[in-house]
Amino acid sequence: MAVVMLQLPQVISGSLTLPRTSSSTYFSSRKNCSLIKCQSTSTEEPKTKRNLVDNASNLLTNLLSGGNLGSMPIAEGAVSDLFSKPLFFSLYDWFIEHGSVYKLAFGPKSFVVVSDPIVARHILRENAFSYDKGVLADILEPIMGKGLIPADLDTWRQRRRVIAPAFHALFLETMVKLFTECSERTVSKFENIFETNGSLGGGTIELDLEAEFSSLALDIIGLGVFNYDFGSVTKESPVIKAVYGTLFEAEHRSTFYVPYWKLPLARWLVPRQRKFQSDLKVINDCLDGLIRNAKETRQETDVEKLQQRDYSNVKDASLLRFLVDMRGADVDDRQLRDDLMTMLIAGHETTAAVLTWAVFFLAQNPSKMRKAQEEVNSVLGQGRPTFESVKELVYVTGAIMSGFSSN
Ligand code: HEM
Repeated sequence: MAVVMLQLPQVISGSLTLPRTSSSTYFSSRKNCSLIKCQSTSTEEPKTKRNLVDNASNLLTNLLSGGNLGSMPIAEGAVSDLFSKPLFFSLYDWFIEHGSVYKLAFGPKSFVVVSDPIVARHILRENAFSYDKGVLADILEPIMGKGLIPADLDTWRQRRRVIAPAFHALFLETMVKLFTECSERTVSKFENIFETNGSLGGGTIELDLEAEFSSLALDIIGLGVFNYDFGSVTKESPVIKAVYGTLFEAEHRSTFYVPYWKLPLARWLVPRQRKFQSDLKVINDCLDGLIRNAKETRQETDVEKLQQRDYSNVKDASLLRFLVDMRGADVDDRQLRDDLMTMLIAGHETTAAVLTWAVFFLAQNPSKMRKAQEEVNSVLGQGRPTFESVKELVYVTGAIMSGFSSN
């Protein structure tokens, strides 16, 4: 049984379902003053009627479960819905219908979809070893290998012990600087859009904020995790295009009835599987090159010394540098690649989704937006954020955490 965390406004837990949120944001710009309005795309589309495939799928589910799917609400209906639009839309419809915990069963697969923060904490934090990632780990394995998310328990324990010390105080301080530098690129991109729009007489600007935040997160992860600048805020990076290609395939695999991609010749004969393999190659070539480079310039040192490096002066403060330089951590290239890839995939969409929802709710609540803005002005003034000052942004942090649903 696999557990899926559904990203809804009141949920901050991550998702392995690769959802696209349904919100887009509109900026009405006037000179030096921008009114931000958010508008969510309606999900009230007519429901797809069940077709033959849906009925066959439900029959298969019932047969395989011996007619017993437990007492949880079961999301039934047209499973063909899953393939015709982003997964999030169907999951959201079922959330409205069944509540925050329900079972989604189609064909031989069955998932529990959770969108309640307390249940998410119970599963992820308090009882992590009681739940299996099931089919999702299976789907992510070709992409993330033995990275922390799909890893078997032994590998997970071993890699957690090695990776955790890399997130030390000086690294986090350096990362806040990096977040600021990368965010400034996004801010100046938006300012340019406003200016251009202003010089053309103003009007409504439509921006896909989730895509913008994804690009920002990818740039930050690239630099923070392996010291590589994708520059995806300003241009299309072939590696990032390949990352999206693999995620698209992962979404397809998670919602397809039978794992035909495991058949011996599928990777050569099926066009979308050929594309998946070529996307993986683009990403692997990039990561392998970075790992090779880091190993060639290795300076082996004790963990304690690594944690005290003068990070304000080192050229490469990345996680990869730390993992390669750490004394005694002679890990093979494959495992390193899996670790980096997992961070890249796990870190960008989650962050982008949370930021999109936070902005969505702020934009819908002008008084909360003002309060957040006041806090930013009073804590940061004209200065840049630091590791310490970010901790003082209590209202903003709370707003992001709760998605503003309970404020
Ligand atoms: C607001 C943003 C984020 C959210 C909501 C989020 C959410 C989650 C959730 C729910 C899990 C548990 C998944 C599971 O056990 O199957 C997880 C695990 C993980 N996340 Fe995130 N995440 C975020 C940002 C990031 C970032 C920025 C990175 C890395 C750059 C990252 C890397 C990871 C890794 C490596 C794991 C596996 C940890 C382990 O099992 O030891 N996440 N995240």
